[in-house]
Amino acid sequence: MASLWGGRFEKDMDDIVKKYNASIFFDQRMYNEDIDGSIAHVTMLGKQGIVSNEEKDQIIAGLEEIRKEIAEGKILFTVEDEDIHMGIESRLIDKIGDMGKKLHTSRSRNDQCQVDIRLYLRKEIYEILNSLCYLESVILEKAEKYEDKITVGFTHLQHAQPITIGFVFMAYFQMFKRDMERLTDTLERLNYNPLGACALAGTTMPIDRHLTSELLSFTAPTENAMDTVSDRDYSLEFLSDASISMMHLSRWAEEFAWWNSSEFSYIAIDDSFCTGSSIMPQKKNPDMAELIRGKVGRVYGDLMQLLTVMKGTPLAYNKDFQEDKESLFDAIDTWKATIDIFAKMLDKTEFRMDQIEKQLGKGFLNATDIAEHFAKQGIPFREAHAIVGHMVKACEKKGCDLEDLTDEELQAI
Ligand code: ARG
Repeated sequence: MASLWGGRFEKDMDDIVKKYNASIFFDQRMYNEDIDGSIAHVTMLGKQGIVSNEEKDQIIAGLEEIRKEIAEGKILFTVEDEDIHMGIESRLIDKIGDMGKKLHTSRSRNDQCQVDIRLYLRKEIYEILNSLCYLESVILEKAEKYEDKITVGFTHLQHAQPITIGFVFMAYFQMFKRDMERLTDTLERLNYNPLGACALAGTTMPIDRHLTSELLSFTAPTENAMDTVSDRDYSLEFLSDASISMMHLSRWAEEFAWWNSSEFSYIAIDDSFCTGSSIMPQKKNPDMAELIRGKVGRVYGDLMQLLTVMKGTPLAYNKDFQEDKESLFDAIDTWKATIDIFAKMLDKTEFRMDQIEKQLGKGFLNATDIAEHFAKQGIPFREAHAIVGHMVKACEKKGCDLEDLTDEELQAI
């Protein structure tokens, strides 16, 4: 098949070059966005008189047919398509003939792929925000249920002070709230229109970038064409947001794993969210929590991959940038699935108050409260701290709790 850019070439690409060069097998997931971008572009070309109304209408009808055929699985892209932009454009030309060749006026794949990714990411960000909202609602529900249930608060994995389970839940609530704020910031910065940047220097045609911005619900056109075609900051921001949020999910997953251990037995995770062992009949393992902890590594890797791709790329477009997609898609899929599975696992987990209560007496959880009680009576806090320290030492020797010390023992201290 002759390539859409074959004019100055005497030879077709070598087969291994075609395969190495192609992004169609992963960028076809943006076919809807590619078509949306093309429809906005040709609508603008029509309005500006660059194509006739008749041409504009035929191109839009052809694109909508292609959209339907892809959705119905009637179009199977191959390596010959190279990427989703050329895959759709060549089918349009097959369908409506030479008229289809006008679509690419004042456009390059360099700005086109930017439109696709921004639109695609925007849609996914809305979905992820929704998933985070659902997770926050489960957290709130559980926080309310366990609002006054006391548990052990840890520092250094040592018993520290008594807290409520609701308080623990609300600590995680804050983390996911920040994740949502970060994602909303990213969305705001990415929502600018690359169309019209073309290859790197814009176009001599009388296009209207404000119209395409409006049609695609972008805030405004981007400001510098060279920056536009080589900017992947918004993907990097997204990957950073994903990495930070996955780190939050992984921290809580880690707590789940040890809350679930035989030593702690603080929680009972529903059977439907655990797995067994092929050899040890008694096992019920918290595999989902462990997998969440494991999957954060993929997302950190995705961020590092794109940072590394970008670090040595001069202005303006370079083919290296095609490597911006797979890691981004992997992070989107992993983050989304992880939020959903975590929210559902959380919903199906109950705290074993009988087990927790057994632990509350250990580790002098009330030591700080007693020191503060002395401080309230006018004893300088450093002295109060030392007094309670001596009380703890006495208890350890005697093998009792702080409240079990006799008046004489307290007096001596
Ligand atoms: N598939 C390419 C990418 O994702 C599209 C842009 C190609 N542009 C070019 N001049 N080769 O980056």
